[in-house]
Amino acid sequence: MPPPVPEPAGLRPGWPARLGPLRVAGLEVRLRPVRLRDGSDWARIRRRDETYLRPWEPTTHGGWARRNSSAEWPGRWWLLRSSARRGQSLPFVITVDGAFGGHVMIGNVVREPLLSAYVGYWVDSGLAGRGVTTAAVALVLDHCFGPVRLHRVEATVRPENAASVAVLGKLGFRREGLLRRYLDVDGAWRDHYSFAVTAEEVPPGGFAARLIRDGRASRT
Ligand SMILES: CC(C)(COP(=O)(O)OP(=O)(O)OC[C@H]1O[C@@H](n2cnc3c(N)ncnc32)[C@H](O)[C@@H]1OP(=O)(O)O)[C@@H](O)C(=O)NCCC(=O)NCCS
Repeated sequence: MPPPVPEPAGLRPGWPARLGPLRVAGLEVRLRPVRLRDGSDWARIRRRDETYLRPWEPTTHGGWARRNSSAEWPGRWWLLRSSARRGQSLPFVITVDGAFGGHVMIGNVVREPLLSAYVGYWVDSGLAGRGVTTAAVALVLDHCFGPVRLHRVEATVRPENAASVAVLGKLGFRREGLLRRYLDVDGAWRDHYSFAVTAEEVPPGGFAARLIRDGRASRT
């Protein structure tokens, strides 16, 4: 087999992008890049949802309310936008019926020879349990294994996070192991399951198409 052709430096395939829609439980799910003006929605939802989000997210130093205030957003947005422009991440907002509903982040993009990244996500508690995140991650996976040309997408999750484990299971992620004291979450170093899916495991037609075949989503 000939050696792979090196990719040009500075390439950021698949970014920026708008993905979807998919329809789940009567809701229209789309993805778009993060925006500077997302700050007030981001802060309002995250401050209200502290008890729902905090057990699963990296420990915030300086207090949840302050680290999730709208004043924090411009700095975070700028970092996200910079890393996306360098091709290192794809930071998406989930919109539900056109409104800010959460986040799906493709991070730590490593191009040749690994062609690998991780996926992280959260959704507004008011939208939970309706299939929104599963649909959003399906759209992102199709994008990652399509225009972004990744080979592997990983996810790490605390074993106690049943909803997130269920999302990964519905999408067909494989559990590969247990990472001891992997991440400082909610004030302590927590074990995490390591999940992954590779390009060889993309279902026929893609992840969104499989959700539709399974009756979990529709295109309209
Ligand atoms: C994890 C999270 C993103 C899931 O979002 P969501 O939009 O509710 O996900 P979906 O509706 O697509 O799927 C959730 C699945 O979990 C299941 N579930 C929810 N709570 C559960 C529980 N306690 N035990 C078992 N299954 C559970 C739901 O039934 C659903 O599965 P189903 O469609 O087969 O019924 C959301 O709960 C969240 O934002 N949590 C806080 C942040 C977080 O945990 N982020 C991920 C870190 S790894």
